[in-house]
Amino acid sequence: MERTLLIVKPDGVARGLVGEILTRLENKGVFIVGLRMLRLDEAAARAMYAVHEGRDFYEPLIRYITGGPLVAVIAEGKSVISIVRSLAGPTFGSAAPPGTIRGDLAVSNRYNIVHASDSSESYEREWPIFFDEGGIVELDDARLKWIYDTSTSEII
Ligand code: CMP
Repeated sequence: MERTLLIVKPDGVARGLVGEILTRLENKGVFIVGLRMLRLDEAAARAMYAVHEGRDFYEPLIRYITGGPLVAVIAEGKSVISIVRSLAGPTFGSAAPPGTIRGDLAVSNRYNIVHASDSSESYEREWPIFFDEGGIVELDDARLKWIYDTSTSEII
């Protein structure tokens, strides 16, 4: 099992799209094991997007992500990092295909509704910016066994 971080960014919260986005995760069969609404302060925003420091979109990005409350989600499942990235769609709302969160809900290249960790290294760096250990629940078998075949030694 793997975990990933998805953020419903301030534009997604302000537009009332939190339920829609959580529904897409749940409908797919991805487990939500952490959920928190917060407003990111500037230091945390700079830490979150440190890899983009110096890019022309960095300062506007900091203003965007600190501009209102966001909802942070930890999702769990097999291959959940790539699954949630494909549910989110390509970065730019203008280019994301229909059927994806960004393709269906965003037109802007900056105000693109969601962030999703792009690797396990990114997830490990990003999740503590939003959660502490106690904010994540353990996944129980009763939920697991109707999403995957757990009857053999391998979860399929
Ligand atoms: P995200 O996937 O969270 O990662 C970095 C964010 O910066 C990205 O979503 C967009 O919100 C924003 N971003 C990335 N590239 C650009 C760009 N060229 N112009 C405007 N905003 C961008």
